Amino acid sequence: MAGLIPDSFIEELLGRVDIVEIIERRVPLKRAGREFQACCPFHDEKTPSFTVSPQKQFYHCFGCGAHGSAIGFLMNFEGLEFPDAVEDLAHHAGLEVPREAKRAARPAADLYDVLEAASNFYQEQLKTSDEAIAYLKKRGLSGEIAMQFGIGFAPKGWDKLSGKLGTDDTRMSQLRRAGMLSQGKSGEYDKFRHRIMFPIHDRRGRVIGFGGRALEDDGPKYLNSPETELFHKGRELYGLYLARKSQAKLNRILVVEGYMDVVALAQFGFTNSVATLGTATTGDQAEMLFRAADEVVYCFDGDRAGRKAAWRALEATLPRLREGRQARFLFLPEGEDPDSMVRKLGADAFARQLDESQPLSDFFFDHFTSAVDMSSLDGRAKLVGLSKPMIDWIPQGVFHDMMIERLESLAQHRVSEPMKAAPGRRAGPARGVRTAQQRTPMRMALAHLVQNPALALQTENLDVFEGCDLAGFEIYRELVDFCSKSPNMTTAQLLELWHDHPAQSHLNTLATWQLPGEDSRLVQEYRDAVTGLELQWTEAQIARMPKIVELTVEDRSKLLSLQQRRQELIGSLQGEEPD
Ligand code: UTP
Ligand code: MN
Repeated sequence: MAGLIPDSFIEELLGRVDIVEIIERRVPLKRAGREFQACCPFHDEKTPSFTVSPQKQFYHCFGCGAHGSAIGFLMNFEGLEFPDAVEDLAHHAGLEVPREAKRAARPAADLYDVLEAASNFYQEQLKTSDEAIAYLKKRGLSGEIAMQFGIGFAPKGWDKLSGKLGTDDTRMSQLRRAGMLSQGKSGEYDKFRHRIMFPIHDRRGRVIGFGGRALEDDGPKYLNSPETELFHKGRELYGLYLARKSQAKLNRILVVEGYMDVVALAQFGFTNSVATLGTATTGDQAEMLFRAADEVVYCFDGDRAGRKAAWRALEATLPRLREGRQARFLFLPEGEDPDSMVRKLGADAFARQLDESQPLSDFFFDHFTSAVDMSSLDGRAKLVGLSKPMIDWIPQGVFHDMMIERLESLAQHRVSEPMKAAPGRRAGPARGVRTAQQRTPMRMALAHLVQNPALALQTENLDVFEGCDLAGFEIYRELVDFCSKSPNMTTAQLLELWHDHPAQSHLNTLATWQLPGEDSRLVQEYRDAVTGLELQWTEAQIARMPKIVELTVEDRSKLLSLQQRRQELIGSLQGEEPD
């Protein structure tokens, strides 16, 4: 949905509102130098590590790592989705959110209508089908819960739905775009036939697709709506709308695999469960889960496939484990799923199992320690090699530190790395900040640009970087171009505009770096970082020259000039003026 709000509006909106004012209404702020401070609203703390920068229009907590623009703050603080946070801010600023109209927005509204009509049709059909009612009874579903979830029935026949709703070409085309039709040799026909129908709702409760379960063993057990304009599997969670409707703020949310699991759990009082739609848990979904509740319990089969699914969920979760957020894993015995389990055990015993489920940290370390020989030095070194990079996906904070400590005790070795400073005497290590990432010239250059987009105008000619393939250089070049075009952008505007960029999360991290030095030195520090970059590139080129004996005359003069340039660059980093 975010795509429907034009970028230009996001930029304008963030230019109009003041993040300090937005946050101040919710969290009392104290001025501290050029920034504002408070105790972090996202984790428990006694001394303030939450800072808001009016200049960057960006907030950041040094304790738990939470950070973002005014939009991001509202999303986190109020538990809002992106479009709703934008609406809120726009309302506050007296602006109207323009929807990128005609092409997308209007017809999409018609698709909601046709899906709603389809869902009503299926529910009507269920009422009159003895066969479908008997099936649901056999599965132990109450009529009440079936109604709550809007469960329906797609009857046998090729055109029951399209015959009813596809009254003209426009309606047929809507059904097609909504994913309700299949194409055969002799024309189109209903995609869902002779199936129990589970409507899938978006977060506002609108039907955006369906899952359909076969009554008998004919064809695939489940059919799901294809990806459409409205339905994107990886961005939805089955049952989330109802779960959030049942309780304003959930303490815990359960993630299961199947539609039937969600419905059965709800019937037993676990109205806080959702299902991934037959896919691996995505990062978007993990973020949605944590916005709904602070504790996420993933509930999977104990078999190999289930453990694999759980590991994927863990990977999606790690980067989102800010302070105050927790994840656990419950592995069910072979052959069971939450539906069968809760019916077998009853609600109380199942609830106990959830309470006793495995914390993420246990699952994480068990996964590695069972794969290596922990009694040998090599095995323990391998443990560090495999797990340390993943621990660093966790945002800086207490949990990250605790995971490192646990790794150190398992490996019987120190693994926390000393901080490294950027080259040159001016760029010393940052004060009082734990850095998981080394401060390379590339990262320093990017960090400076993200934090002060206007510095792009201080970039000297990038021609010397012709052919440069250093990691991250393309992003740097793109960022310089972008910032040069609108140097008055704030950090928050820049990051929101780059929201879909692959480097987005990397740049977000760099936006939180505390850069050494005062304003007066900014330009020099940025240039030093770029000089450091050029030095790396020059050295890379020297290293790639042919062996001395194979040098042509041309090569020789090139090598000579590279070496000269190298000396100049080193000199300039050491503070000497080049001749
Ligand atoms: P399961 O096979 O565990 O089904 O698939 P289930 O939900 O327990 O269903 P019942 O109890 O047999 O009725 C888990 C989920 O994987 C997806 C569906 O989302 C399903 O709910 N799936 C499964 C498919 O998309 N297609 C399939 O053919 C099977
Ligand atoms: Mn099942």
